[in-house]
Amino acid sequence: MNYSLQTNNLLDIKSDCICLPIFNKKDDIQHEVSALCKLGLKVDEACDNALTHAISRYDISSEAGKAFMLTVDNQNFSRILFVGFGDAKNVNTDTLKKAIKALKSQILDTNIKSLCIALDEVSTEIGVTQIIQESMVTIESSRYSFDQFKTKKTIANPLSEIIFHSDDSQQALGNTAILQTQAQVKGINKAKDLGNLPGNVCTPTYLAEQAQLLAVNSENISVKILEESDMQALNMGAFLSVSKGSTEPGKLIILEYKGGEKDEAPHVLVGKGITFDTGGISLKPGASMDEMKYDMCGAASVLGTMTAIAELQPKLNVVSIIASAENMPAGNASKPGDIVTSAAGITIEILNTDAEGRLVLCDALTYAEQYKPASVVDIATLTGACIVALGHCTSAVMGNDDTVINELLDAGKQANDKAWQLPIWDDYQSQIDSPFADIQNIGGKGAGSITAACFLSRFTKDFPWAHLDVAGTAWVSGGKDKGATGRPVPLLLTYLLNKVAS
Ligand code: BES
Ligand code: MN
Ligand code: ZN
Repeated sequence: MNYSLQTNNLLDIKSDCICLPIFNKKDDIQHEVSALCKLGLKVDEACDNALTHAISRYDISSEAGKAFMLTVDNQNFSRILFVGFGDAKNVNTDTLKKAIKALKSQILDTNIKSLCIALDEVSTEIGVTQIIQESMVTIESSRYSFDQFKTKKTIANPLSEIIFHSDDSQQALGNTAILQTQAQVKGINKAKDLGNLPGNVCTPTYLAEQAQLLAVNSENISVKILEESDMQALNMGAFLSVSKGSTEPGKLIILEYKGGEKDEAPHVLVGKGITFDTGGISLKPGASMDEMKYDMCGAASVLGTMTAIAELQPKLNVVSIIASAENMPAGNASKPGDIVTSAAGITIEILNTDAEGRLVLCDALTYAEQYKPASVVDIATLTGACIVALGHCTSAVMGNDDTVINELLDAGKQANDKAWQLPIWDDYQSQIDSPFADIQNIGGKGAGSITAACFLSRFTKDFPWAHLDVAGTAWVSGGKDKGATGRPVPLLLTYLLNKVAS
């Protein structure tokens, strides 16, 4: 898709369709009517008042979430798409989301090849950045398909050009938004592809190869892969207790991006990369077990974010660590009651082999220490309890540093990839006490997401850290629309880019 921003006269822009906002207005006798914006009135004039005629003749609703396509006679454009925004003075993020969704539904079933989005009047309310971001992400997400394994491929929609119209004052902001969102979309799609791949293809070895490919093809990125023997040497007994039950070798994958000063402390992302989670000897029930191929979505979001970073080359240092293994039952798999020693020297009683994410993550977090990081954020499909607490719209954030937590929450709002904080007060820590080892890997009844974070907190004492539980947000379950969402790439990328801006 070709994206551009144009600030010249709207009537001079050639495109198949111009998208214009319409608003609610009270007429002389206090009836609600649909009203064109200022640009719309200009277009109306150029089309012999066809727009105002249509508005009065048809029921063209200005409600947010409604859109109406009109054919017009003009040499530069042949259609107008009216998009409802409700009350002009009350346009907010939710209105915008509804409006863009309606816009998307209207254009997808058409033959429109080029679209001009002229939301100038709306952008004075909510900013050109948000409009561009929301439009691009929504449209690109509806065009995404995962058909690598289909013998008949999906036919691509013909839309190939989107022009955002704006006034001169918004030009710089708008162009930046286009570049950043293009990179973001690339990152989201990468995360979706990796997440959607089946477990027999997307193994720890495959993820390692993907990281190597990214490093080879990008500037300022280097890669290091730790094999099980390397992890043995680092005493990563927690990680290895998970990977040992599988014939697929576990990998610790490290990507280093250097865009900042040489001695500048990096921001570290740590991703859970369980390429299939059977539960191990604490075997999961059969129903929906296929969805545990998504248990590497934390890792996928890290690789997706690095893909976007590679493209944008921001001035900061980022290190990504992916803890990747397959969790299988086997003759040599860990058993409930086994006690292992982590790289940090903390002993762990494994009471449930299905609480494997924290076991691979704790050694990866210990590995992060050597970077003397400015911040560490881990991303994991860690607990089913997170879905019980927050459902599928919101990721959970917990951590030991309010600044990192608040920056993540803000980035989530900004990128429309929301998260919400859960408490990890000391009161919960005793739930992971073990009579036989330093800690145990499950916290018993209640607050499952919090006790999982408490477990991780034992390994993050030396740096500012936050944990994102994306169990509910990383993929859509079952049904026709099932698949990875690419979340939380928008949140992570925004979080990192905000560091450069400030
Ligand atoms: N990968 C799962 C968490 C999960 C389950 C995410 C379902 C999304 C949907 C994780 O490894 C796991 O199995 N966690 C257990 C922890 C429990 C044994 C303390 C869980 O949530 O049931
Ligand atoms: Mn598990
Ligand atoms: Zn898991």
